[in-house]
Amino acid sequence: MAATPDLCTEEEVSELVYAFYAKVHEDPLLAPIFNAHVKDWDQHLAKMVDFWSSTLRGTARYRGTPMPRHAQLPGLNPGLFKRWLSLFHQTTHDLDNVAMRERADVLAPRIAESLWYGYQMYNQPTRLPMDLEDR
Ligand code: HEM
Repeated sequence: MAATPDLCTEEEVSELVYAFYAKVHEDPLLAPIFNAHVKDWDQHLAKMVDFWSSTLRGTARYRGTPMPRHAQLPGLNPGLFKRWLSLFHQTTHDLDNVAMRERADVLAPRIAESLWYGYQMYNQPTRLPMDLEDR
């Protein structure tokens, strides 16, 4: 799927990221995980803006490697990924920019699924990986 700079503005990307993390901070399941691992919130949020700017607008500003980061987080499971996606979809639901919402709603579950696959391959290499929907 080609990303386009015209899909949304940088301001819309920032609004999406900050609105999503406002929900994360309130969430009893996800907040403790982020608070345990994010040392510098300004830096994390700036990185996440770069990530979504890259995926939605094709700016290629994000240079990180999310897979090993998530693989090393203890205790991730399908329920947590589904919770993350539920908060994300609640956030995109409020976007006025319909094209941006639709793109974000397609990309996030794909990335979540691939992170969950990578997580299982890293942490349980002898077991067959399951889809997020398998349980
Ligand atoms: C169970 C669901 C998830 C949890 C609990 C979670 C948690 C975290 C945490 C704690 C970090 C910071 C890690 C660190 O700085 O050491 C992080 C980074 C990040 N997360 Fe997630 N995450 C989840 C799902 C996702 C999904 C579905 C996406 C994308 C659609 C995503 C994208 C990212 C990105 C891009 C980073 C920055 C990695 C880097 O370059 O340092 N995460 N996540």
